Amino acid sequence: MTLLQGKNILLGVTGGIAAYKSAEIVRGFKKAGAQVQVVMTRNAQRFITPLTLETLSQNRVMTEMFPSSYEDEEEAGPFLRSTSTNLPEIDHIALAQRADVVLIAPATANIIGKLAHGICDDLLSTLVIATKAPVIVAPAMNCNMYEHPVVQGNLEKLKSLGVQVIEPEAGFLACQMEGKGRLPDPDVIVTFVVNFLHNRQRLLGKKVLVTAGPTREAIDPVRFISNRSSGRMGYAIAKVARQWGAEVFLVSGPTALAAPPGVHLTRVETAAEMREAVLKYFPQVDVVIKAAAVADYRVKEVKDQKIKKKDSGLVLELEETPDILEELGRIKEKQVLVGFAAETQNLLSYAEEKLRRKNLDFIVVNDVSRKDAGFEVETNAIQIVYRNGKVTDYPLMPKEKVAEVILGEILPFLADKETQNRHRGE
Ligand code: CTP
Repeated sequence: MTLLQGKNILLGVTGGIAAYKSAEIVRGFKKAGAQVQVVMTRNAQRFITPLTLETLSQNRVMTEMFPSSYEDEEEAGPFLRSTSTNLPEIDHIALAQRADVVLIAPATANIIGKLAHGICDDLLSTLVIATKAPVIVAPAMNCNMYEHPVVQGNLEKLKSLGVQVIEPEAGFLACQMEGKGRLPDPDVIVTFVVNFLHNRQRLLGKKVLVTAGPTREAIDPVRFISNRSSGRMGYAIAKVARQWGAEVFLVSGPTALAAPPGVHLTRVETAAEMREAVLKYFPQVDVVIKAAAVADYRVKEVKDQKIKKKDSGLVLELEETPDILEELGRIKEKQVLVGFAAETQNLLSYAEEKLRRKNLDFIVVNDVSRKDAGFEVETNAIQIVYRNGKVTDYPLMPKEKVAEVILGEILPFLADKETQNRHRGE
């Protein structure tokens, strides 16, 4: 197998009983063609010997932050020999720079806590802070420890910083308790890393513009017109697009969500501001996904002072906001253009009309009358309508999975455009 040919994997092993599984993880990576460098913490060496992992990885296992000088250059191993001078380099910096990915499996509550707080008191914790490579952790511990709010909070913090977490499995634990905390089988972990590295190539070199959330149109200084959009769908798309290697510009209306790691976020309030931000990025991007629920109307005249209550009632005169997507459809050149249609009835016919009117490559339809899909929930059930009349139905899924489906559908459009450009260039 050559799935990981040419990849440098840095495997951190920390001190839990599941450390014995790291031997099989190393074997899995080697079988897939990777170069593996193991770093063990002091406690990990109480569960499995460095010699075992050294033999399987065919590389010297690193354990110390400040090792005494190498007896000879060969001892430094290929991961640590400088390519220019062929001399051993400073361990944590060299290891951090060479790795394509850092995996910590098993990851104890201790290393998770240290990483979440930037504590660098041994080789492994230091090199994770020194690396620019993506970091994946696979927690394994007693179920009470895993569920502890401190550990969960630390994992959330790591996720918000872009660290990938391989969820532990539920089952019978070494401590004789039943619950969530078991390290998944080595082949599950190896497959996760293979898929992760593969996905990182999928949108590499592409620029993706995503809009998310509602817009908010002022009536007076205290009131506005808006809608129920939470922004979750657009944020999930931005997050996955970034994980797939794209440079991502997220233009967001008011939401309570934090920016996904590594994404350029522009916050806007009104449809007019969203239009301005979108038009600024549009010429340079390859893909636009308009998940935002743009308010269709705004008041014609925004009052400077708070409108006072009157017995005669109140009539507001509304005017249409600019249709941003329709404008993009008119001016688009190379961009793949994807819209959303939030509908409560006649889903497909309305969606098809928008697909044509806005000159889209495809449109994602969701039935916002369902309680479990669309606005303000974590899940979505979509249909995708294409220009040739094809319609694909998808089951109810978490919004991150829906994001993967949508981005997966965009890949063939990008490939087609590349082929067209190549032909044009000939
Ligand atoms: N959209 C937009 N600018 C607007 C209104 C909508 O860019 N002023 C985009 C949305 O981001 C979405 C798509 O157009 O991708 C469809 O939005 P939707 O609200 O479903 O449709 P409308 O065109 O507004 O039509 P209607 O409200 O009548 O369903």
